[in-house]
Amino acid sequence: MLQQTKPPYLDTMCCSLSNSLPLILLLLLSLPSSIPSVSTTKAHHPTNTINMVPSEAETLFTIMESMSTDKTWRVSFPNPCQPGSTWPGIECKLGADNHLHVSRLDFGNHPNPSCKKTATFPSAISALPHLQSVFFFNCFTHTKTTLSVSRVSNDSSLQQLSLRSNPALVGPIPPQISSLKSLQILTLSQNHLTGKIPLEIFSLNSLVHLDLSYNMLTGTIPVQLGSLTNLQGLDLSYNVLTGPIPNTIGELGLLQKFDFSSNLLSGVIPDGIEKLSLLNFMALSNNKLHGQFPKGLEKLQSLQYLILDGNPMYITLPLEFGKLVKLQELRLADSGYLGTIPESFSQLKNLSTLSLQNNRLTGEIPVGFGSLSHIYHLNLSRNMLGGVLPFNSSFFSRLGRNLDLSGNPGLCLSPSEAHSLKIGVNVCGSNNNGSSMLPLKKSQASSGLSKSFSLFIPALCVLGLHQILFLV
Ligand SMILES: *[C@@H]1O[C@H](CO)[C@@H](O)[C@H](O)[C@H]1NC(C)=O
Ligand SMILES: *[C@@H]1O[C@H](CO)[C@@H](O)[C@H](O)[C@H]1NC(C)=O
Ligand SMILES: *[C@@H]1O[C@H](CO)[C@@H](O)[C@H](O)[C@H]1NC(C)=O
Ligand SMILES: *[C@@H]1O[C@H](CO)[C@@H](O)[C@H](O)[C@H]1NC(C)=O
Ligand SMILES: *[C@@H]1O[C@H](CO)[C@@H](O)[C@H](O)[C@H]1NC(C)=O
Repeated sequence: MLQQTKPPYLDTMCCSLSNSLPLILLLLLSLPSSIPSVSTTKAHHPTNTINMVPSEAETLFTIMESMSTDKTWRVSFPNPCQPGSTWPGIECKLGADNHLHVSRLDFGNHPNPSCKKTATFPSAISALPHLQSVFFFNCFTHTKTTLSVSRVSNDSSLQQLSLRSNPALVGPIPPQISSLKSLQILTLSQNHLTGKIPLEIFSLNSLVHLDLSYNMLTGTIPVQLGSLTNLQGLDLSYNVLTGPIPNTIGELGLLQKFDFSSNLLSGVIPDGIEKLSLLNFMALSNNKLHGQFPKGLEKLQSLQYLILDGNPMYITLPLEFGKLVKLQELRLADSGYLGTIPESFSQLKNLSTLSLQNNRLTGEIPVGFGSLSHIYHLNLSRNMLGGVLPFNSSFFSRLGRNLDLSGNPGLCLSPSEAHSLKIGVNVCGSNNNGSSMLPLKKSQASSGLSKSFSLFIPALCVLGLHQILFLV
């Protein structure tokens, strides 16, 4: 039974519509249009308005039969766009020619039709000229198939093409994709697409979102990228792209998010990036990028997420990060950063996550970090930081296990905060290994130390210093 697989709202709709609608339609079609009481907008159209163009209906049946085993479509729904008999997974719209046309196909996402094992990409969709959006999710899973676009006409109305999570969708992105001139959203994520990004994609200048992530695309990011001037979102992450980030990315003046992480990109972050004044999300983690940063980095005043970990940067941290005051997440781990953490980072009052672990940072933690009131995840582990922690007890309890300072032998905890033990840091002056400790500043040594030190030592002896102090 079809209705058992539908969500409740569809059941309700079907129950109420399936009994009454055919009758209403019959009345509308047979009654003379002069009777005012039943004259709705539909009643003004001549009889054939309810029908599809037969050739389009035939194309649709062919597509449905090749994709789905859910139903015997042709028999169950001889007039697929007819109101009241609409399939899950398709939508129709009334065209200027007074015919109903398929405007949306949606497969694979419940309650839409699921795809059969032998389903292959239906290139016949190019023959549905009124189609505006196509979604195939988790659809091509067993039978290898390629993305084919036949250049039957130049007036495609397709605005959204979304092919996601189709492990059997293989081969290249065809250059004929450029015939889909109305495309605004192109999502080809989580398939097994190979080959280079075709240059023809960059002639689709209506594109607002382009997502090619999680494939096996190779080659470089073409400089022609700069011609997609309407782009707001760009995701090329998790591919095998090589070479530099083209400086032309700076021409994408409306860009708000881009993600190139987990590729093999090399070179530096290009200066062009500083022109992206609307950018709020930038991810370049796990590539082969090296220092330096664009000089005008601080112009990126919309940035909220900056995800750069896992690149061989080997430079000092730029002071300018401290001017990106909207930052909420700053990830710079595993990148060989040298020198001290700039005090300017303390100005990032909205920062909730800061990852600096596994670098070569030296010196003290900026005093201002203790008053970062939104921070809930701070990882400074595995560096060469030293000195007294600038944190008080409320800071420690707010972050709890999300504070990781381990692997910095020179850091120590002010004895007045010694009750906050589980942070992987020694108490300043505790005599476990004097050689790795920085000496206390004189004022602290004379005030806090003498009082708590004697209370503290017996506990350490009983429990074992390493167990208490190096809980990670
Ligand atoms: C589509 O447009 C291209 C150039 O814009 C042209 O060369 C081609 O002949 C057109 N194709 C059709 C089927 O109209
Ligand atoms: C920080 O976050 C708050 C709340 O989300 C927001 O109102 C404020 O404008 C943000 N500050 C900055 C400098 O972006
Ligand atoms: C901890 O430090 C913060 C920031 O400096 C301060 O606002 C807060 O009152 C302090 N809390 C305690 C318990 O000292
Ligand atoms: C901090 O980073 C290290 C190294 O990447 C990781 O093992 C650890 O789980 C992180 N700690 C926290 C609290 O996230
Ligand atoms: C303590 O210091 C000695 C040298 O004084 C060193 O050999 C040893 O590895 C250090 N132990 C730890 C746990 O740092």
